[in-house]
Amino acid sequence: MLLTILLSACLVLCSLAVDNPHKRAPKRVHKTHASQIRRPLVKRQESSYLTPQTKKFAVNGSAIPLVDFDIGESYAGTLSIDHNSSNLNQLYFWFFPSNNPAASDEITIWLNGGPGCSSLDGLLQENGPFLWQSGTYKPQPNPFTWVNLTNMVYVDQPIGTGFSPAAPGAPAKIRNEVDIGRDFAGFWLNFMNTFNLTGRKVYITGESYAGQYIPYIASYMLDQNNTDYFNVKGIQINDPSIGSDAVLIQAPAVTALNNYQNIFALNQSFLHDINSRAERCGYFQFMEEALTFPPTGKFTAPNDTAPGCDVWDDIIAAAVYVNPCLNLYHLTDFCPFLSDELGFPSLGVGPNNYFNRSDVQAAINAPPTNYVVCGDDSLFPNGDESPPSSFTALPSVIERTNNVLVGSGLLDFLLLTNGTLMTLNNMTWNGRQGFSKAPSDLFYVPYDPSLNFVLAETENQPIPAVPVGLVAGGGIMGTTHTERGLTWVTVDLAGHEIPQYTPGAAYRQLEFLLGRISNLTEIGLFTTQQASNGSTASL
Ligand SMILES: *[C@@H]1O[C@H](CO)[C@@H](O)[C@H](O)[C@H]1NC(C)=O
Ligand SMILES: *[C@@H]1O[C@H](CO)[C@@H](O)[C@H](O)[C@H]1NC(C)=O
Ligand SMILES: *[C@@H]1O[C@H](CO)[C@@H](O)[C@H](O)[C@H]1NC(C)=O
Ligand SMILES: *[C@@H]1O[C@H](CO)[C@@H](O)[C@H](O)[C@H]1NC(C)=O
Ligand SMILES: *[C@@H]1O[C@H](CO)[C@@H](O)[C@H](O)[C@H]1NC(C)=O
Ligand SMILES: *[C@@H]1O[C@H](CO)[C@@H](O)[C@H](O)[C@H]1NC(C)=O
Ligand SMILES: *[C@@H]1O[C@H](CO)[C@@H](O)[C@H](O)[C@H]1NC(C)=O
Ligand SMILES: *[C@@H]1O[C@H](CO)[C@@H](O)[C@H](O)[C@H]1NC(C)=O
Ligand SMILES: *[C@@H]1O[C@H](CO)[C@@H](O)[C@H](O)[C@H]1NC(C)=O
Ligand SMILES: *[C@@H]1O[C@H](CO)[C@@H](O)[C@H](O)[C@H]1NC(C)=O
Ligand SMILES: *[C@@H]1O[C@H](CO)[C@@H](O)[C@H](O)[C@H]1NC(C)=O
Ligand SMILES: *[C@@H]1O[C@H](CO)[C@@H](O)[C@H](O)[C@H]1NC(C)=O
Repeated sequence: MLLTILLSACLVLCSLAVDNPHKRAPKRVHKTHASQIRRPLVKRQESSYLTPQTKKFAVNGSAIPLVDFDIGESYAGTLSIDHNSSNLNQLYFWFFPSNNPAASDEITIWLNGGPGCSSLDGLLQENGPFLWQSGTYKPQPNPFTWVNLTNMVYVDQPIGTGFSPAAPGAPAKIRNEVDIGRDFAGFWLNFMNTFNLTGRKVYITGESYAGQYIPYIASYMLDQNNTDYFNVKGIQINDPSIGSDAVLIQAPAVTALNNYQNIFALNQSFLHDINSRAERCGYFQFMEEALTFPPTGKFTAPNDTAPGCDVWDDIIAAAVYVNPCLNLYHLTDFCPFLSDELGFPSLGVGPNNYFNRSDVQAAINAPPTNYVVCGDDSLFPNGDESPPSSFTALPSVIERTNNVLVGSGLLDFLLLTNGTLMTLNNMTWNGRQGFSKAPSDLFYVPYDPSLNFVLAETENQPIPAVPVGLVAGGGIMGTTHTERGLTWVTVDLAGHEIPQYTPGAAYRQLEFLLGRISNLTEIGLFTTQQASNGSTASL
């Protein structure tokens, strides 16, 4: 079976003769290194972004501690959340201009969630120009950096998050998403002015609790009727917090457990008990109703506080007894814990303080900070007082942009795929509720050219191994559906953080958000890949 897969993959990708890999291994001495396989990052000749005004934000791309390559042109620092430049409340940004000519009229924002998580998590572990991911030895260039496609800015927000400074006690005054939107828009005005970006199309992307932030920020921006600064053209939210936990987490948990039984490996008596509880709590019946297309009316959430109905926590507890290295952000992690420079999401041993190093902070114009990737639990002292984004903010952004992507990784056990789909199916936008048919279109991801090399290495098993570097799979990777300005897309092998686990899929989704391809089912190269005849792919 495995051999068949390898063989057919080989037929598609290459024309290697497959003979006994064990015999072949010692004979083959590979001299090629990953760095020779990859074209180096193209260095910008002269920059229109470097001005007397931006000079103080310039980051020396060759002087990032522990990074032994040039990460390219970038600017970082803090800017006030209002017109008062000496306001102590500021947001930290790290801005990477793109060399892609198609990006000249765009700017794309990335936000992590939490609440209270730094967007440098996304930069370092998901989609930045260099990555230092769990279990890897040192930072590496990211062939799937989103900077290949567009101008990216990573922002730590709200105030008090990551490197964003806050006046004493200020974060605790954030009550709701209107406060979040107002502070972000205040910062954004200063950012757009500083880098002379006025008039550009603005895209906002992110994941998890940013599924609450982003629709509200986009909504706040669109409300300003000011396309010089707030020309929002689309948003993408992955594995987003958009509804109630009862729907997002509890109702779909046991169905997901049953689907991934082999991965969880829980005992029969537990499975039997948890299934009968899910039945009694009305979760299966709710799913049947909420996954009917088109939906027949608004749904009433099941009562997840009734006795025995917190099935999700019980599954996690049982799962940790069997697999103590369970990663609820990515179900297929097993022991040992991988080391992790941010201490998240893995609990591995080793330094986990990259952004807490003073040399790193100095190199990236970050204010000296006792940095934690996810911190400040004083945010929203009374909880987030805004309703879930799917109630009004998200539909309003869909109606005003007709360009919203909601992604979901099937291996995420924190915010579950079916929970997100059910939440969307309860939502009304552009005149109707939910989707008219069950999502079934196939999501196609182009093959990474380096897969030939990876396949050869995998078959040959050279000892010592030749480093392969960062790679991504391709082919049919999930299901997608577009209706009335909203695109839903699942990724089979992704966890909570889609760009981290399936970088090619995430890159493809961004190509779609930016309008570089017409849909996610289309088969063809990445828009930034060279066709084998040398011409740039024009898809
Ligand atoms: C950037 O850093 C490198 C490595 O430390 C150094 O050689 C180079 O002079 C620096 N460039 C600038 C413009 O400061
Ligand atoms: C600007 O912010 C500083 C620091 O918070 C404050 O002292 C000052 O009064 C503010 N200025 C204006 C005009 O609001
Ligand atoms: C700002 O950008 C515009 C093009 O978008 C350019 O014409 C103008 O000269 C720039 N202004 C400054 C001060 O760089
Ligand atoms: C934006 O335009 C809408 C519709 O014309 C209007 O209701 C709203 O008050 C305007 N908002 C601002 C901030 O001017
Ligand atoms: C989602 O729900 C449907 C309907 O119950 C089920 O067939 C499917 O397997 C579920 N998917 C996951 C990943 O749990
Ligand atoms: C469905 O949407 C309505 C608002 O349109 C909301 O009141 C209700 O709570 C939602 N149901 C669920 C299960 O989230
Ligand atoms: C949910 O169940 C709890 C515990 O049985 C009960 O106190 C509460 O009233 C129920 N909520 C609803 C909305 O039925
Ligand atoms: C089966 O799993 C449950 C949940 O972890 C546990 O309470 C129970 O003891 C297990 N049964 C056996 C025989 O270990
Ligand atoms: C960050 O560094 C400071 C000293 O610079 C230290 O006191 C603090 O414990 C560190 N934080 C973490 C999470 O390691
Ligand atoms: C997707 O785009 C391709 C190429 O433009 C087109 O042929 C195809 O019909 C489109 N499919 C859908 C489902 O829109
Ligand atoms: C990103 O750009 C580099 C340099 O042009 C290129 O080698 C790489 O293939 C690009 N990545 C993708 C996914 O197209
Ligand atoms: C090169 O290949 C691309 C993609 O297969 C194709 O669209 C293009 O027409 C080819 N160009 C030439 C000059 O053959």
